[in-house]
Amino acid sequence: MTSRKAGLWDAQSWAVYKRLLGYTRRYWPVAVITVVGMAVEGGALAVFTQLLKPMIDQMFALKNAYYIFWMPIWIVAIFVVRALGTFASSYGISYIGRNVVQSIQQDVFASYLRLPAAFFGAEASGHQISRITYTSEQVASTATDAVKVTVTEGVTVLGMLYVMLINSAYLTLALVVMIPAITLIATVVSRRYRQISKRVQGMMGSITGTVEESVGAHREVRIYGGQAHEASRFDAITQRTRRLNLKIAATSATSSATIQTVAAFAMALLVYLGTRPQIIDSITPGVFFTVLTAMGGMLPSLKRLTGVQANIQRGLSAAEDLFDVIDMPPETDSGSRELDRTRGDLRFEGVRLVYPRNDHAALRGVDLHCAPGTVTALVGRSGSGKSSLVSLLPRFHAPTTGRIVLDDQDYQNYTLASLRRQIAWVGQSVVLFDDTVANNIAYGELAGASEAAIIAAAEAANAMEFIARMPQGIHTPIGQSGNMLSGGQRQRLAIARAILKNSPILVLDEATSALDTESERLIQQALQRLMKDRTTLVIAHRLSTVEHADQIAVMDQGRIVERGTHAELIALNGHYAALHRMQFHDQADQPPGAAATDPAAG
Ligand SMILES: Nc1ncnc2c1ncn2[C@@H]1O[C@H](COP(=O)(O)OP(=O)(O)OP(=O)(O)O)[C@@H](O)[C@H]1O
Ligand SMILES: [Mg+2]
Repeated sequence: MTSRKAGLWDAQSWAVYKRLLGYTRRYWPVAVITVVGMAVEGGALAVFTQLLKPMIDQMFALKNAYYIFWMPIWIVAIFVVRALGTFASSYGISYIGRNVVQSIQQDVFASYLRLPAAFFGAEASGHQISRITYTSEQVASTATDAVKVTVTEGVTVLGMLYVMLINSAYLTLALVVMIPAITLIATVVSRRYRQISKRVQGMMGSITGTVEESVGAHREVRIYGGQAHEASRFDAITQRTRRLNLKIAATSATSSATIQTVAAFAMALLVYLGTRPQIIDSITPGVFFTVLTAMGGMLPSLKRLTGVQANIQRGLSAAEDLFDVIDMPPETDSGSRELDRTRGDLRFEGVRLVYPRNDHAALRGVDLHCAPGTVTALVGRSGSGKSSLVSLLPRFHAPTTGRIVLDDQDYQNYTLASLRRQIAWVGQSVVLFDDTVANNIAYGELAGASEAAIIAAAEAANAMEFIARMPQGIHTPIGQSGNMLSGGQRQRLAIARAILKNSPILVLDEATSALDTESERLIQQALQRLMKDRTTLVIAHRLSTVEHADQIAVMDQGRIVERGTHAELIALNGHYAALHRMQFHDQADQPPGAAATDPAAG
């Protein structure tokens, strides 16, 4: 039985396995008890088999009174001890397994919290979710069932082998038939499982992703009649998963069947060897049947041992996938300077940005200076690169070339955390958490803000008006992603969060686009007060909201094509003036001049 392991375990498997074992180190006392329990469980069967010899030779052949009295007691004793071993090993291994899974889940989740934005763009979220829900469960089954089977059945096989050897080394020769065959089967099976398991994991990610998408878009699916499309998409994926799982089942069934056949040959050889004329008289029936039973007793254990490859390989490739994510380099945080509070002097110098998965440049050389305490408005067509430009600020992406200078320092020199602390952000799509109004406003590092501060921020964001009408005021839960709120209400909570953060740099990307003119005007006033000591970048399609900005930069195809104040740009009579004319023409059916002199934000 020496060459068996070499075929099954390549260096990579060992590395993954060792690392998994590392997670169990803390639970070593439980592990010791568990392994002892497994050994007892496996060994007890061998001990029982060894009892067959006195049963046959002493009890029945010789009617030995000693054995006749003690045998029933021994049998019960053996199985009571075995039962204790079974309990210890089953519960112990589950205890360790569940703890390991929890630790791995925590590690994967922790790496999700620190991986760079590019990671989330590159992989479907379904895969990220199924890592926590499905893949880590596969690891659990390796750590529990597979280890238990390996140790318990391994001890059973060794115990039975020992019983065979002490009874008759000669008869044990019959096993020679089985060893190469079983080594071969185990090697082939384990290779195949490994390949298939990797693909099954991928499929689980796709299933999760598809369900997530269809459920999340349940309105669109119904309105656009996408049911048939979604159903067939889901069908295709589940069919592939079923096929892969059946391949695993076929491999496992084939290996079981083959082992049985091989075992039959071994038993036949045993009978042949035991009945040779020069041997038959030297072997008692007790010895012969003990060896035969021991060999038969190995069989289910061997079957389970080769079957356990399914679990181990599945678990290992699952663990490998999880470790890959855990090992991914976190966001690069090359900076070492702690930025206390920036003056807010912000300069973009020749900034180009090519997204990792996009070959065309989203930004093609942007030069822009935002002086401390000023408001810079970015306007321009959809897709011109406005959001891309501001998303460089918190270093979600680094400029491909060019640099961003904050307070006369390349902003890469600052630590990520201290840089991000300088920025309050209201994005184009508002993100809220399944929590109360107050906890959504005072989120993250803002947690612990006083109730008065939260209410003041909500008031400035013109949000108190609807929060006050909610059943529990600011302590009302708002449902998953704030689904109990209207679009404009969500936006106002996001603005309140930004106001509460009170950072020297404020980014408003279409922050008031979902608001009515009245609310927008009120918030604008609040922001005006707020913007005094900070550098603000405002992106807006509605030009009336940016007329009072200190400078307006017009973007087109990743470049700034015009820059100046509202009056300057109108006088220039270029892109901005054209946009302005169009909007005021659309809004009110009145001469453009009249609207321009009486802006709504007055
Ligand atoms: N995460 C991303 N990965 C790859 N390409 C992106 C990503 N985000 C934006 N882009 C591309 O960059 C270009 C600029 O997009 P951006 O979101 O900056 O436009 P925008 O000016 O904010 O438009 P809008 O007014 O519609 O919000 C687009 O062509 C878009 O395809
Ligand atoms: Mg945008």
